[in-house]
Amino acid sequence: MLKLESLKVTADSKLILKGIDFEFEKDKVYAVMGPNGSGKSTLAYSIAGHPGYEVEEGKIIFKGEDITEEDPEKRAKKGIFLSFQSPLQLSGVNVVQLLRVALEGEVDPLELQKKVEKIAKELDIREELIKRSLNEGASGGERKKLELLQAAVLSPELVIFDEIDTGVDVDALSRIGKFIQKFKKGRTIILITHYSRILKYVEPDKTVVLVDGRIAKVGGGDLAHLIEEQGYSVIS
Ligand SMILES: Nc1ncnc2c1ncn2[C@@H]1O[C@H](COP(=O)(O)OP(=O)(O)OP(=O)(O)O)[C@@H](O)[C@H]1O
Ligand SMILES: [Mg+2]
Repeated sequence: MLKLESLKVTADSKLILKGIDFEFEKDKVYAVMGPNGSGKSTLAYSIAGHPGYEVEEGKIIFKGEDITEEDPEKRAKKGIFLSFQSPLQLSGVNVVQLLRVALEGEVDPLELQKKVEKIAKELDIREELIKRSLNEGASGGERKKLELLQAAVLSPELVIFDEIDTGVDVDALSRIGKFIQKFKKGRTIILITHYSRILKYVEPDKTVVLVDGRIAKVGGGDLAHLIEEQGYSVIS
């Protein structure tokens, strides 16, 4: 599904990803872990095509196609979705309007509205929040749920959740976790996380550990739990 070949990425001329080789397969869930500043979000941004991150070397291959130079909109259209670690506010546009633009009128507005309302209910998102400008006045946890709602409507083949479990309460975590567990079928899910608690709901097939811009270790789902219990010393 997604192949990273000797990927080196800079931001502000600083080398952050120092050579990543990895293949993410279809129908699999990956936990990506690593200390603060190890390059997890940079990896997510690079895959999504964020303009602030420059690929200096290597390739990003999505479904057999080299997308290294492609802009983020094209990547999104091809089926890549990034749920942000810190979702931003968008003035004057609510989530339904934003989704309508993203779907380029390929969906009936009334059907879209119904779909959004159904998912919002499943995720326990207040109705008022989906009518307001995106994320305006929304709490941290509510923003994370709105990211998941967008992913669910757009139905991409590859989804990167960057710390969707950070700052959410226990009930929200359970809803988010169970929703992703249902949602994962037929897709590739990359869960960037610091904690193994979401992995109680969405068990990863593999755990990938980034340290200082490199993959330091790849293991099974048990590696994530081991790291939470014992810290990153277990990988050295
Ligand atoms: N736009 C940028 N300009 C300069 N440095 C950057 C930029 N983006 C990221 N970095 C640096 O790259 C390193 C990796 O950052 P990144 O956000 O990818 O880490 P992370 O693994 O997601 O950390 P966290 O767990 O804290 O979210 C950090 O040292 C960060 O300061
Ligand atoms: Mg990050």
